[in-house]
Amino acid sequence: MNAPIDVTDIRIETDRLILRAWKETDLHDFYEYASIEGVGEKAGWNHHQSPEESERILSSFIRHKKTFALELKENGKVIGSLGLEPRDEDAGLKEHLQGREVGYVLSKDYWGRGLMPEAVQAVIRYCFDVLNFDYLTCGHFDHNDRSRRVVEKCGFTYLKDVVTPTVRGIDEPGKMYVMYNPHKEK
Ligand SMILES: CC(C)(COP(=O)(O)OP(=O)(O)OC[C@H]1O[C@@H](n2cnc3c(N)ncnc32)[C@H](O)[C@@H]1OP(=O)(O)O)[C@@H](O)C(=O)NCCC(=O)NCCS
Repeated sequence: MNAPIDVTDIRIETDRLILRAWKETDLHDFYEYASIEGVGEKAGWNHHQSPEESERILSSFIRHKKTFALELKENGKVIGSLGLEPRDEDAGLKEHLQGREVGYVLSKDYWGRGLMPEAVQAVIRYCFDVLNFDYLTCGHFDHNDRSRRVVEKCGFTYLKDVVTPTVRGIDEPGKMYVMYNPHKEK
């Protein structure tokens, strides 16, 4: 089952980041990183061709209320996103358990500083301690070693191999991982 989520009034602070709902005024920062080739492609979408494309997707972030903007404290810029996506039915988890799949993207300018593990770990804590989720899943495509390292460093456990059809029209083989809420019975 998908756990209910509404990030509108959630604010999570880490050492270097603020995770909060997207705002229309984030468009410039969003387009800046989403239009760079080789970022979205790692997550299954094509880099944005125009600010209008980014604006459309930003509106859907705001409408669907399941995606955090990652604001870097040191300069106030939005440098990435972290979504709590609907569960992948192929994951094969028990139907009565409530959770979501973590998905994330970071601006290429900020890779390699441990920022995404910091964001993901904070969201894990929030989902388990405050929202009382039963589980979180997380996945990566087989070619995406950087994302694999984020998954490993955050402590997810390998669940199964999956093939994901993407909006790029490519079926991507990858791996799915799970983490159960340590405060709850499975
Ligand atoms: C995956 C991603 C979110 C990682 O975020 P990050 O904050 O850079 O994560 P980390 O700093 O922990 O780095 C992760 C790994 O990337 C690799 N890496 C980091 N910087 C690197 C660099 N400059 N060159 C080569 N590899 C590098 C390292 O293997 C690192 O793991 P390590 O800590 O064991 O050395 C980011 O690379 C990204 O947004 N990629 C494009 C979108 C994407 O792949 N999304 C995930 C879809 S599943």
